[in-house]
Amino acid sequence: MSKEQATEVQDAWKAFLESAGSEDAAAEGLFNAFYEAAPALQPLFKTSRAVLSGMFFRGIQQIVMSLRNGKQARAFVEVLGFRHLEIEVTSPRVSAFRESILDLFQAELGDRFSTLAFEGFRKMLNYVGGGSVLGLVFIREHFKDRLRILSTSWAVANSTAGQEPEEEEEMATMKSNSQEPSQSQSQTQRSSLEHDGQAAKQPANNTKLNIGAQNVPATFSDMFCFNAAVMGLDDRLWMYEVLKSFDAVVRNEECNVISLRMAKIPGVIHLNDFKAIMMASLRSLVPKGWDQHHEEAWIWLWSNVEQILQQEVGKLAPRGRLVSRYVGSMEQDSEEKLSKMIYQKFFGVAPEGQDFFKQSASRLNFIVHQIFQITVQIYQDPPRMVDELSALGLRHVGYGIPTVFFGPFVSCVIESVKEITNNDQALCDAFAWSLGLVSQILMRTIDEGSTLVMKAINMNSARHIIRALSDTPRKRRAMAMLKVTVGTQSISPLLWAIQSGSMEAAQAIVQDLLTIRADRDRYYFGADDLFTRHPDIIQVITTEARPLIRVLLDRLLWRSRLVVAGHRRVNIYLQHLLVTADGQFADALCWVSKMKDPTIVTHTVLERLTDLVWNKVIYLPFLLSKVWLLFSLMVFLFSQSILKNFLQAESIDHQVVRITTFVCRAFVYMASMTELIYSQSKVAIKAIRTRDLTRLFQIPLPSKYVTDWREAVSITLTLILICMFMVEPILFCLEHFEGDFEGAGRFTAQCPQAADVQDFYSILSMFGMFCYFALLVDFSALFIPLSAFVLTAGRLLPDLLLSLSAAIFCVIVFGTAVTVSQGNPADFRDVFSAMMTLFQISVGMYPQQNFIQLEHSRWLLVMCVGFVVLVVIFLFNLLIAQLIGSHATVYRTVVGLARLNRMAVICDSMPSVRQKVFRNFIQSLRLDHRMEFGEGDIGLPGGIQVLEPAGLHPTYEDSIHRYGGSTSPNMPWPEEDEEVSNSIEDRIDNITRIFKKALKRMHLQEGKRSRSSRSSTSDSSINDSSQSSITSS
Ligand code: HEM
Repeated sequence: MSKEQATEVQDAWKAFLESAGSEDAAAEGLFNAFYEAAPALQPLFKTSRAVLSGMFFRGIQQIVMSLRNGKQARAFVEVLGFRHLEIEVTSPRVSAFRESILDLFQAELGDRFSTLAFEGFRKMLNYVGGGSVLGLVFIREHFKDRLRILSTSWAVANSTAGQEPEEEEEMATMKSNSQEPSQSQSQTQRSSLEHDGQAAKQPANNTKLNIGAQNVPATFSDMFCFNAAVMGLDDRLWMYEVLKSFDAVVRNEECNVISLRMAKIPGVIHLNDFKAIMMASLRSLVPKGWDQHHEEAWIWLWSNVEQILQQEVGKLAPRGRLVSRYVGSMEQDSEEKLSKMIYQKFFGVAPEGQDFFKQSASRLNFIVHQIFQITVQIYQDPPRMVDELSALGLRHVGYGIPTVFFGPFVSCVIESVKEITNNDQALCDAFAWSLGLVSQILMRTIDEGSTLVMKAINMNSARHIIRALSDTPRKRRAMAMLKVTVGTQSISPLLWAIQSGSMEAAQAIVQDLLTIRADRDRYYFGADDLFTRHPDIIQVITTEARPLIRVLLDRLLWRSRLVVAGHRRVNIYLQHLLVTADGQFADALCWVSKMKDPTIVTHTVLERLTDLVWNKVIYLPFLLSKVWLLFSLMVFLFSQSILKNFLQAESIDHQVVRITTFVCRAFVYMASMTELIYSQSKVAIKAIRTRDLTRLFQIPLPSKYVTDWREAVSITLTLILICMFMVEPILFCLEHFEGDFEGAGRFTAQCPQAADVQDFYSILSMFGMFCYFALLVDFSALFIPLSAFVLTAGRLLPDLLLSLSAAIFCVIVFGTAVTVSQGNPADFRDVFSAMMTLFQISVGMYPQQNFIQLEHSRWLLVMCVGFVVLVVIFLFNLLIAQLIGSHATVYRTVVGLARLNRMAVICDSMPSVRQKVFRNFIQSLRLDHRMEFGEGDIGLPGGIQVLEPAGLHPTYEDSIHRYGGSTSPNMPWPEEDEEVSNSIEDRIDNITRIFKKALKRMHLQEGKRSRSSRSSTSDSSINDSSQSSITSS
């Protein structure tokens, strides 16, 4: 373009700006002109209008201003082309763009838009967009090959040891199919790594990687760090910042995050250094097939990145300061006003958006507040924010937000900011830049994270979950339900389904994960994946989705259809319920026991698991602890009750009895009491530390004292023993054992000095005895039927207590009433004896002959008859009826209750089991051995196999889904015949599918027909031409 023409174009541009009034208005005008002129292209613009129009305007302005500097203009167009690689820029689209802009200029400038300027603009826009050398269309077409080279060589550079990525993946699956649990675990980890991608592609932290000479770097980032160290450039921190986002750049995502990261780094940046190391690293990682084209492609990529970075980096710090100052100075009132304005505008332009924002106004204000904070923080700490935005984006996937709303939403936010700041151009630009980037990252995350499974979860539909998985390769099926990764963040569809209350979807996922599937080569079962991804899944399910626990347990059990010698094989996959990945006792049993549901614990899997741990690990330590208790009780019994009786016998040496009593009591205080004080202090300290306290009558107590009767009895016993020790008569008499009193002698307890405490001591001793025996009730856990009986009795006790209190009330009422009348017989003379008599009557201890004395007082007789009818006939029979009713209810769950009791004992005792004992137990189970499904059919590891009498659980269908056809792990499972459903939804779905299939077939046939007609025409033309050549010859 000639200099005059360039000047003319620049003048026209200035005139256009003047007539628009402001850059902002000009930007909007330009964008609108194009947007309105090409409605078909509108879906291509996903970012907000406000952000796009700014970018659009700046892009054109840059080129217009560089028109007199051909080199600069060329560079700008090249960068523009690089940024448009992902967009399909075609010649008709470029024409539409050009014409709309020229029309706008003509309309705005009229006569001031000279022919020279018009032609200049046309030339410029043709150059930028057209098929000429360097136009966007040209760049897209021309660099297709380069893009392919970049993507393939990048994939190779990041796969370990130069293996092709797909090939490597396959290797991992093959290994997992040998079904060693550890291997399958490593496969899961590997596949999550692979999914994460960036984990391999990015250095884990800001520091340089330490790569020894013996470790050959296998990924790009490792090799980069290695080469940087070799070239002595490893102190350039900015390079590591670029490296971290380099993957996104190669995948042509964006350079803005790199610019943000680099803007934070002090010192001079020589971008050329990066290029040198990058090229060296790529050459060593992609040795096979590296040629001139590879060199050109990578140099081209870097030169574009370099230009973008040079343009952006310097502008970011001032922008960041502007946004941060504005947001920091915002008052709560103005924030609320702004928030209201944003939502009003947004609901105006996108009324459907209201369906997503149903929260309270305060929550909506909070979201806006968060958005403002994000726009500030993205400038301040870009690496952290990119991670957080990926997580936020994944949460938006969970909320089911379509990306189409982001553009209007961001525009409304920017417009509102403009309005409230009276159009502060610099601030609005800075704000638009960061919010635009935020929304771009969020949208990308949503696009990548919105898997079909996540969408099915949002619909809470089991059917859609199954459909969503139907095309997933069989080796990835489990992970598709467990992990959606975007960037460094991931979300678990299963967990999201549970947390968002999509129970139907969650159930379908658990069922699908734990379905055993098989082709001829291998078995697939998602238990390893499930428990590796969510080691706490039982805790999650027992607290947030109780109905799922039975579904999960059902699927951990496989029963053979075949019966051999009256028994069938039962495989119970209990490994993950029993042991964690690092060999510790898994808390699954404890979580189930916390549910306190007596029906679930009788599930075969839990029954087997509980019995296994009980018999092999807990039984002995439990027995020993109870033997100790039993021994303490015996000593206590001897010292308090039995030895006392020997003092009555003349034949026994009283001194020996007293010494024995002293030794026994010393044992009770020194051993039993101190042990109890120690264990109770531990309970109390732990409760205080974990703040696990409950207030009882305003006194804070460890919750265990309220919820666990054993602990309550233990602490009571401890206090009783302490009190007994403090009033111990032997200690009172220690210095006063001589004298003139019965039983005098060393270690006597009967000296006059101890007389005052004797009664109190006896009462304490009596209660102590009760407590010891009560603790012994735990012995019943050794035998389920005994434990069940104890629990039944315990459950019925409240009924008995209620009836007894009613009876005592009647005794008091009648006892006080009868003493009102004069001349009563001796048994009814005062209140106390009357109540005693009535009590004796009620329990059948009143002698029959004493009833004769009632003849003299008819009034008394009537009262006694009334009492007998009310208490003996009515109340006690009511008690029996109640007991029968309650027993019937309790009986159904009593075995479950006994099992719950056993589980609780296991959980309490497990911490004291030695690690070695537990490890030996796990080894003895041989959980890594694959169990047979049938003779010679070696199945999956991770459980135990038992034989069950055939009649116990008749099974006629094999729960394993077996498939013929291809056995490639990359193939999806063949579609199964779905259950016939009559719902309208299903029928419409079926019709749609049939319709789609028919359409596909028609397209295929049409394609074939047109191909054959083309070949026949070409054949005929060949024939024609040959014929003509023959004729001519
Ligand atoms: C740049 C654009 C956006 C940003 C930065 C953004 C940011 C946020 C933040 C920070 C939250 C707070 C809650 C959380 O951490 O999960 C949130 C929640 C939410 N957002 Fe967005 N958002 C954006 C766009 C949108 C759009 C366009 C929609 C829908 C039309 C939307 C719908 C929601 C919903 C439904 C919630 C959940 C609120 C709740 O459960 O209380 N967001 N968003």
